[in-house]
Amino acid sequence: MEEVLTWIEIQDNIGWIKINRKKKLNALNRSLIDELHDRLLDFQKDTSVRVIILTGNGDKAFVAGADVVEFSHFGPLEASALVQHGNQVLFDFIAQLNKPVIAAINGYALGGGLELAMACHFRIASQHVKMGLPEVSLGIIPGYGGTQRLPALIGKGNAMEMILTGDMIDAEKALRLGLVNQVVPQEKLLETAIALAERIMKNAPNSLKNAIKAINAADGSSKGFREEGIQFADCFGSHDFEEGITAFLEKRKPKF
Ligand code: COA
Repeated sequence: MEEVLTWIEIQDNIGWIKINRKKKLNALNRSLIDELHDRLLDFQKDTSVRVIILTGNGDKAFVAGADVVEFSHFGPLEASALVQHGNQVLFDFIAQLNKPVIAAINGYALGGGLELAMACHFRIASQHVKMGLPEVSLGIIPGYGGTQRLPALIGKGNAMEMILTGDMIDAEKALRLGLVNQVVPQEKLLETAIALAERIMKNAPNSLKNAIKAINAADGSSKGFREEGIQFADCFGSHDFEEGITAFLEKRKPKF
């Protein structure tokens, strides 16, 4: 039987999307990316939905990254196609959506998972969560906007440290850096996201749409996003990529 990857509901003008690829810690494979796109598109078209909340099932993972197994045999061309597609249908799609999207981070937000949270317009995190961009430990770099959105949120120096060390940070540090808007106990996560949604929904939908567009224009040019795609794909021909991915699959530390 096919896995149920997402679960949705509309309640009091809030469109809920819960990611449910639990056995793989919600790692983003192509089916999940496409399914999330379809869910978001439905909510975008549905005038009863005013704010969208995106979260993961359970308390272990929001999303633990792009699916490493899926791209383990990719070369630069396939890698480039992968990120172009993902960015178009999910990451940029969310960032540019005409309704606010809140990420309720219920567990690990790593790699593509943190990039997904960063593409959302707000991030609320549970106290226990860990976040990071560990791609360099796999012989690649972030490819879903991480090298562009992280410095925009926390500054270039902090982003350099997070991306070049690949270290995970806890929720309190994420709050200090400005990576998340709020940190709350796990049992308060969803009610806090609802409270934020309610504050937003008091305002004019057209103004929210235009404000999102205007704020996004402050992100800088599309040149940076293009360069990220080029550098991401370039990693896939390297010996480091082979060693990084093989080590992940063999559950050992890579030798670079
Ligand atoms: N892609 C594919 N599968 C993944 C995954 C990913 N990004 N993250 C986790 N999984 C899988 C694991 O391979 C494992 O599968 P298995 O049960 O078939 O062996 C399952 O999810 C559970 O993960 P596991 O590593 O056993 O859980 P843990 O509690 O020991 O560790 C993490 C949790 C998040 C620290 C660890 O899973 C991890 O480091 N994941 C990769 C994070 C990453 O590098 N993300 C960036 C990718 S670009």
